[in-house]
Amino acid sequence: MENQVTKPNQTLVSPGFTCWLTGLSGAGKSTIATELSKALNNLSVSCEVLDGDVIRKHLSSDLGFSPKDRETNVLRVGYLCSLLNKHNINTIVALISPFNATRDKLRQSLGKFIEIYVDCPLEECIKRDPKGLYQRAISGEITEFTGISSPYETPVSPDIVLKTYEEDVNQSVEKILKYLHHLKLIDIN
Ligand code: ADX
Repeated sequence: MENQVTKPNQTLVSPGFTCWLTGLSGAGKSTIATELSKALNNLSVSCEVLDGDVIRKHLSSDLGFSPKDRETNVLRVGYLCSLLNKHNINTIVALISPFNATRDKLRQSLGKFIEIYVDCPLEECIKRDPKGLYQRAISGEITEFTGISSPYETPVSPDIVLKTYEEDVNQSVEKILKYLHHLKLIDIN
């Protein structure tokens, strides 16, 4: 009979996947994450959304926006994803996650990591300014604000690019679903 016990040196790839949305504040990450989770639920695919604003309230309220704190925040969420993915719960993350080096660490530590660049020009994000934060950052009231006084490093080779200034949320979600289907992670037929 086959030995069912996992050998200690055997590497298991977690069954769940992580769709990681990175981009400027106001680019559309949270909106896409919410709609993607609805679309996956409609396909009977379980998933959990981990959104920057919510994470910072409940899990990372001790952190600020220095490069070091951002890395800690991003890696914490990455660890959370690894735990959920291990139990076949897919995760959708919406975090600015501005640094290439940190995102590379996620790619290395998560078995099925899909990097999705939510691409929207800074000028457009400033125009949208849904939370009024850009105006406060431009006036200097908020410091270390991504795109204004803190860098955002454009992903080098993201798996998917969503141009939210020229495509709507349904088109963006459709692109992600097609990609997940292509990877055989979901079945959309
Ligand atoms: S990250 O850089 O660590 O990935 P995260 O996505 O968690 O950032 O948080 C971004 C959210 O925090 C923004 O959408 C915005 O609402 C809020 N915020 C407050 N201060 C800042 C800041 N200095 N830079 C960016 N976002 C900020």
